[in-house]
This record gives sequence, structure tokens and C-alpha cells, in this order.
Amino acid sequence: MDANLFDFTGKTVFVAGGSSGINLGIADAFAAHGARVAILARDPAKIDAALDRLRRHGGEVAGYSADVRDPAAVARALEQAHAVFGPIDVLVSGAAGNFLAPVLGMSPNGFKAVVDIDLLGSFNVLRNAHPYLRKPGASVISISASQAFTPTRYQAHVCAAKAGVDMLTRVLAQEWGPDGIRVNSIVPGPIEGTEGMKRLAPTEAARQDMIRRVPLGRYGEVREIAGIALMLSSPLAAYVTGVVLPVDGGVSLTGPRDFAAAYEAASR
Ligand code: COA
Repeated sequence: MDANLFDFTGKTVFVAGGSSGINLGIADAFAAHGARVAILARDPAKIDAALDRLRRHGGEVAGYSADVRDPAAVARALEQAHAVFGPIDVLVSGAAGNFLAPVLGMSPNGFKAVVDIDLLGSFNVLRNAHPYLRKPGASVISISASQAFTPTRYQAHVCAAKAGVDMLTRVLAQEWGPDGIRVNSIVPGPIEGTEGMKRLAPTEAARQDMIRRVPLGRYGEVREIAGIALMLSSPLAAYVTGVVLPVDGGVSLTGPRDFAAAYEAASR
């Protein structure tokens, strides 16, 4: 087997949501393995900080400020990245939003905000990227969440949106397979240091409750998600498409989390 399975030198990686958290960790891992990396995010200051981090690996990097809810802005960023870096070998779609609220505590606009970022945003990124993806050969990865499998109180918007993201993965694997494009989802469990977990488990008690429900008995690390993104984009996974892959210490096997206490604490 080829010893350089994880050498991404000369490859172009585009990460939507890549200025922070899991998505930045993924961008960083690809940069460390030689890729040219473009990131898209909303906040120009966070983009600049992320680019500083990515540049330390010595490769070419670029950042684009856009909201994934705006298809024209997403299309412009992808067009510009393609003009600079050429065809996209790896596309990661991970922009997400979340807050804890029961359905009755959520306005239509609150529900829409999360569905628009997570699901419609994924559609905007994937659909607009298609002309610029390497054909054959591109690896497309959407970042989902275990709420896609587990009906979870106070997370109706995220459950609905992420289940939709995973369905998009399964449908596009079929529609784009003939182009030689593979489409997969990574489903992270609770990951250390992320904005998502700050919102979902804001207290030490909530954190310990979460850990008790994880068969492996701990939070995951960003690099454990990034490693799977590398693997899915490597020749090792050349025959893998339409897969929705939990990387969660087994937490999605153990039923829904209960965020009632975290919600009550945040509302006080
Ligand atoms: N409970 C109930 N409703 C809430 C809420 C909360 N905690 N936070 C926001 N909302 C509602 C707002 O009230 C608004 O609805 P309204 O117009 O009927 O009042 C709607 O959500 C949109 O809020 P707004 O702040 O204008 O949206 P935004 O587009 O600026 O932000 C969010 C989107 C709400 C998802 C915001 O949390 C965000 O940008 N998150 C990104 C970071 C993140 O969540 N990371 C974790 C990813 S797992």
C-alpha cells in the first residue's frame, strides 16, 4: 500500500465554516498534510486569525467572508477560490448554529435560523461547489451531529436540520457518484473546546452528565474528527460514499441526551 496515503500536497481543500472549532481543526489537519486550504466563514476577524494559524504549515491559504445562507455570496467565494487554487479536491461543509430551546420557546425565525445555516447552508455550499469539484476524485464531507439520529428535547431545529444534512449526503452520493465525486457525513459526538459544547453543556455538572452517557467515557478531541476527514479523503476510502459516520465515542448508541438542566441553567 502507498506510504503517502495522507499526503495532500498539490490538493485543494475548501472548508465552509472553517474559521473555528471542528472545521478549523479539519482545515488545519489538511494544511499540515500539504494541502492548499481555503476557508469560508462569516466573521472577517476570525478568518484572519484562522489563516494565521493555517499559514504556520507553510502552504498557500485563502479566506472568504460569506454567510452560507446567501447562495450568491457562497458561489462568489467558491468561484474565487477556484480561480486561485484550481479544482477542489476536498470540500468540507460544516457551518452550523445552535441554541437550547423547547419548540414552544422557539419562534419560527429561531427554527429557521438554524435550519437555514445547517441544512440550506449545506445545500448552498454543495450545490454551488459542484462546478469546481475535481471530477473524478473529489471528496465531499458534511459535518452532521448525533442529534441527526437521536430525537433530543430542546434541539428540534438541530435534529431536523442535521437529519436533512445526512439525507442530502445519501442522495448526492447517488447523483454525483457517476462524476467520480464521493459524498459522506461525519457525525461528531461531544467534542472538547467547541462552541457547540459550550452551549449544550455550559456547566461542569452538564459536562459530567454528558460524559456518563458516552461509552468511551470522555469527550472527543477535534483532531479525532480531523483524522477521519483525512481518512475519508484519502485513497483508503476510494470506495466509500453515502456513508454517515459517527465519530462519537459511541454516544449515538445510548439514546437522546437530556438538555433540560442545561436549558434551565442558561435561562436563569
Ligand atoms: N432561544 C430561543 N430563540 C433564540 C435563541 C435562544 N437561545 N437564540 C436565538 N434565537 C432566535 C432569535 O430570537 C431570532 O428569532 P426572532 O427573530 O423571532 O426573535 C432567531 O433565533 C434568529 O436570531 P439571530 O440572533 O438574529 O440569528 P443569527 O442569524 O444572528 O444567529 C444563531 C443564528 C441563533 C444560530 C446563533 O446562535 C449563531 O450565529 N450561532 C453560530 C455559532 C454556533 O451556534 N455554533 C455552535 C454550532 S454547533
